[in-house]
Amino acid sequence: MVLYSLFQGDFVVQEYKLHIGGESRDSATGETFDNINPATLENLATVQVAGSEDVDRAVEAAEEGFRVWSEVPAPRRAEVLFRTARILQERKEDLARLMTEEMGKVLPETRGDVQEAIDIAIYAAGEGRRMFGETTTSELKDKFCMTVLRPIGVVGMITPWNFPLAIPGWKIMPALIAGNAIVFKPASDTPLLAIKLVEILMEAGLPPGVVNLVTGPGGSTGKAIVQHPRIKAISFTGSLETGKWIMEECAKTMKRVSLELGGKNPVIIMDDADLELALEGVLWGAFGTTGQRCTATSRLILHEKIKDEFTARLLAKTKLLRVGNGLLPETDIGPIINKAQLEKIERYVRIGMEEGATLLLGGKAIDPGLPGYFFEPTVFTDVRPDMRIAQEEIFGPVLSIITVSGLEEAIEVANNTRYGLSSAIYTENVGKAFRAVKKIEAGITYVNAPTIGAEVHLPFGGVKGTGNGFREAGTEAIKEFTEIKAVYIDYSGRLQRAQIDME
Ligand code: UN1
Repeated sequence: MVLYSLFQGDFVVQEYKLHIGGESRDSATGETFDNINPATLENLATVQVAGSEDVDRAVEAAEEGFRVWSEVPAPRRAEVLFRTARILQERKEDLARLMTEEMGKVLPETRGDVQEAIDIAIYAAGEGRRMFGETTTSELKDKFCMTVLRPIGVVGMITPWNFPLAIPGWKIMPALIAGNAIVFKPASDTPLLAIKLVEILMEAGLPPGVVNLVTGPGGSTGKAIVQHPRIKAISFTGSLETGKWIMEECAKTMKRVSLELGGKNPVIIMDDADLELALEGVLWGAFGTTGQRCTATSRLILHEKIKDEFTARLLAKTKLLRVGNGLLPETDIGPIINKAQLEKIERYVRIGMEEGATLLLGGKAIDPGLPGYFFEPTVFTDVRPDMRIAQEEIFGPVLSIITVSGLEEAIEVANNTRYGLSSAIYTENVGKAFRAVKKIEAGITYVNAPTIGAEVHLPFGGVKGTGNGFREAGTEAIKEFTEIKAVYIDYSGRLQRAQIDME
């Protein structure tokens, strides 16, 4: 496979087609879009825009793929996933570099992203020998009862740019092991890693048509997937607004829909916490991935007794963070994904100031000697829980400090948003830790660890505006992509009527 580094001077802009039915296909629209490196603004690739005609073709191919793949025994399907994991492992470094070029986050994090895809491929492959149903008793004699898991059929997947391999991995690997076929639309900021993933799946032996890749904007390509009458389910990770729209649309065609939407994740630091540990956790949670994670720490809830000391130490450390090209080892914080996102962050900084919050650090775009989209790590204090900067997802390196007088108030503040994805508490008191675990409304709570760092064998997802009850990955992964069937086998040789023939 050809991969390239901007720093080795051997870069060529390639044009990528759609991947439908195991083949590279030109889109019917004839339109293309550029894949821009957010640090350098160089064009990495030209990618085709799929229209509704292309989505139709992808669905047709997927239906054909489904016929073949759903008949392959799950332990055999697992072999493809194990091979996928091995290829990802062999190419980990190249893929990580390409990912840094494509979406900006620093190399250790893009390596982590590839690793997360490897982990989920292996985890899902293991499920190939563990797709257990239940066997149970019957009300009636000589009757056997059990459940079996069945694939759903053709599943549509729409994925975000912040985890270009990990999040497609969370969706694709479990869906594949369960025997589904896929129409996959990656975010327009990260088509290249999606293309590489599909190439690797094919190389690993996936039959044609099982995964079909259609690139293009959410407003047209994504819409065609969501509205397609023959797609049976949608799995989406993205914004709350888009998620709501998808759910409404899916009601019209009775599609199953699983949503992973935003977060406004709090970290509570109690007065008894190990402050040095908490400090490292806050820096990583708030500024890792340039704050562009659904799980990023965006609200820092400080106990009033340690507020001044913690804030001073936080500012001192934040000032040392270096913003720049994610390929360079000295960089801590890479670029913002695109111009619109940078402008959104600038807008929120203005809103925070207008609302009366105090800007302690950052607040501006900066130029680290590259033309791309860079923003200073930003800290606000005197934030009230109802301010927009404490309520709305900014998706950038912006942290809001809210002061509280005790645990009950901290939990109340933590719960005071429409989201509920991740959360964390730092305390040395086991009782306080357990109370927080019980009371915080979120899909994930960490104790003495940052809000980011989910592992693939645990369920990922959230409550309230963060989702619609589904969880990804982990022990829930198979549920997202299977239907459960109840099976009754009556070997009595006579008509037995449930609820009626009681003897
Ligand atoms: C996301 O923020 O969109 O726990 C996914 C984490 C990562 C996954 C984040 N393992 O932060």
